[in-house]
Amino acid sequence: AQNIQWGGRFTEATDAFVQVFTASVDFDQKMAEQDINGSIAHATMLAEVGVLTQEEKTTIIEGLEAIRLEIRNGEFEWSVALEDVHMNIEARLTQRIGITGKKLHTGRSRNDQVATDIRLYLRDAIDAILCELTRLQTGLVDLAEREADTIMPGFTHLQTAQPVTFGHHILAWNEMLFRDYERLVDCRKRVNRMPLGSAALAGTTYPIDRSITARLLGFDEICENSLDGVSDRDFAIEFCSAAALAMTHMSRFSEELVLWASAQFDFVDLPDRFCTGSSIMPQKKNPDVPELVRGKTGRVNGHLISLLTLMKSQCLAYNKDNQEDKEPLFDTVDTLFNCLRAYADMMPAIQVKKDNMREAARRGFSTATDLADYLVKKGVAFRDSHEIVGKAVGYGVAQKKDLAEMSLQELQQFSDIITDDVFQVLTLEGSVNARNHLGGTAPAQVRAAASRARAKISAR
Ligand code: ARG
Repeated sequence: AQNIQWGGRFTEATDAFVQVFTASVDFDQKMAEQDINGSIAHATMLAEVGVLTQEEKTTIIEGLEAIRLEIRNGEFEWSVALEDVHMNIEARLTQRIGITGKKLHTGRSRNDQVATDIRLYLRDAIDAILCELTRLQTGLVDLAEREADTIMPGFTHLQTAQPVTFGHHILAWNEMLFRDYERLVDCRKRVNRMPLGSAALAGTTYPIDRSITARLLGFDEICENSLDGVSDRDFAIEFCSAAALAMTHMSRFSEELVLWASAQFDFVDLPDRFCTGSSIMPQKKNPDVPELVRGKTGRVNGHLISLLTLMKSQCLAYNKDNQEDKEPLFDTVDTLFNCLRAYADMMPAIQVKKDNMREAARRGFSTATDLADYLVKKGVAFRDSHEIVGKAVGYGVAQKKDLAEMSLQELQQFSDIITDDVFQVLTLEGSVNARNHLGGTAPAQVRAAASRARAKISAR
C-alpha cells in the first residue's frame, strides 16, 4: 500500500517499523481541539480572501465540528498510519465531506499548523496553571493569617537561629509563588503569538490575511518571520524554565513539610487523606504528597534540559526533531498543574501543632541575638556583645539551661550591664514583636503582609 498522504513521489510504502517510529499521534492527539480550532480559523480566512467559497468553508467547518464530537465521545479512530493528529483529522474530514476536505490544507503546512497548535495548547495550559496557583496562594494567605502569632524556630543551616512566626514562614513561600506567577504571565505573552501563515517555511503564494486568523484564534501578535515562526520552540523552553523554578519552590516547601511531619519535628499534622500507610509497619503515616511533589521536580527539571538540547543544533527552519518537543512539554504542564492542585487542596487542611513549635523555639538559644542587641542598646559594641552572649550560651549548653531560664545573677556573670528588663527581651514574643518593620516577622507585620498579598491576588 502506498502512503496515502505523499504517495505521489514514493515507489515503496513506509517500512512498518519506521511508520510507528515516526508517528506522534499517540501523544499529539492531546492537541486535537486546538488543531480543529486552528483549521476552522484557517478555512474561515481562506473563504474571506476568496480562496475557498462560502459553501466550501461551511462544509469544512461542519465536518470539523462533527469530528470534534467524535473525538470528545471517544469514537474517533486514531491511525498510526496517518502519523499525527493533523493528518488524522484531515483524512477523516475528507472521508466525511469528500473532495472539499482536500482543500483545507491550501496555503498551510503541518509546520505552521503544529507550531500554532502547541501555542494554543500551552496558552490554555498556562491559564489553568495560573488558576491553581491562585488557589494555592489564597490557601497560604489564609493559613498565614490564622498563624500570624504562632511562634516557631527559624533556621539557618537547619540549626535554630531566631524565633519567627509561622505566618511569616508561610508568606515566604507565597512570595516565591508570586514570582512564579509573574514569570508565567510574562511567558504567556511570547506564547500567544501566531505562526500560522508561515506555511512550510517561506510563506505562501495565496493572498492570506493573517490578521483574520490571529483575531479568530485570540493571538495577541503574529510571528514576524515565517522561518522563525515554524521552527523556534523557545516559548516552550521558557515555559519549562518557569515551571522548573515553580517546581523547585514546591520541592522546597515539600522538604519542609516532610521534616515537619516527622516525629522528630512534629510541627504539623497532614490530613490522613493526603498520606498513606505502610504495608508492614502499622504505625506509619507517610507524607506521600509532599514527597511526590519533591520527587516530580526531577522530571520537570529534566524536561527543561531535554528541550534546550533538542533545540540547540537545529538549523532553520522546521526539523522533525521538533516532534520531540511535545512529550516533555505536556508532562511539564500536567506535573506542575497536578502538584499545584494537590497543594491547593491540602493547604487549608494542614493542622499546626503550635505547642510543639513553641517548645522547639524555646530550645536552641533562639533569642541569643536579642540578648546581643540588648547589650548593644546599653552601649556595648556589637562584636563585644556577640562574645559575651557566646559565653552565656556556652554556659547554658553546659548547664542545660536556655538563656531565659537563667537567673539574673547567672546572666550578670557575663556582663554587669544586664538588669532585670532583660527577661522581656528573652521571651519569644518579645523577640518576634521587636522585628516590627516591613518584611519583619512581627505578628502585626505578618497581618499587614497577608492583607497586601490578598489584595494583590484579588487584583488578578
Ligand atoms: N508531527 C509533526 C510534529 O510534531 C508535525 C509537523 C510535521 N511536519 C513535517 N514536515 N514532517 O512536529
